[in-house]
Amino acid sequence: MADERKVNPDEPVHEIDGIVELNHPAPFWWQAIFYASIVWAIGYAGYYLGGSGMSRKEALQQELAELAAKDVRPNASPEQELAELKAIYTDPNRLASGKAVFTKNCASCHAVDGGGGIGPNLTDKHWLHGDGSIGAILKVVREGVPEKGMPPWGPILKREEVMAAASFVRSLRGTTPAKPKAPQGDVVEPKADF
Ligand code: HEC
Repeated sequence: MADERKVNPDEPVHEIDGIVELNHPAPFWWQAIFYASIVWAIGYAGYYLGGSGMSRKEALQQELAELAAKDVRPNASPEQELAELKAIYTDPNRLASGKAVFTKNCASCHAVDGGGGIGPNLTDKHWLHGDGSIGAILKVVREGVPEKGMPPWGPILKREEVMAAASFVRSLRGTTPAKPKAPQGDVVEPKADF
């Protein structure tokens, strides 16, 4: 019975068939969080399901694409890379883009025509690292020789740029630079090459 309970006289009371229902509203802080979470959920769903928000799959794909664009860990086999390098080497436009990459990033140390400066002459048959084959050139361009002042370009340039620059260096072989730097390293004949 209603009158047997401690009821706040100001509080609205329902009574139906002798069953008393009190109305205790949830505390303000609780309601505030509750309604705020509904508002937030609407915004969240709108952004991620209907709007411009990326799904987790898209976010993953974007991260993978960013990683693949950098030349850190190519997942192509050496044979595939050789084929890619050859495709660049034999395409004048792509080779020209390699020249542009070289002029921008490498010429400060190797001269625009590869004649050398801080870095060695890249046109002669003398090589410090590897045998001058395209594979050896790609390796040294990608990994660098940090302790000798040749930066590793894999983490800096895009994969395509590293490949194009390596192909361009390969095309310098046998050319005559304006101011050739004295040979460094051994005379080697490239073994596995195009
Ligand atoms: C800051 C100067 C610097 C820059 C920039 C630089 N290099 Fe080098 N590079 C060097 C030095 C120094 C060496 C020689 C390392 C050694 O003595 O072992 C070298 C070596 C090389 C070699 C091997 C030469 C050999 O005889 O084995 C290649 C190939 C090469 N660089 C290509 C490039 C390319 C391509 C770029 C641009 C993407 C580039 N380098 C940018 C300084 C540089």
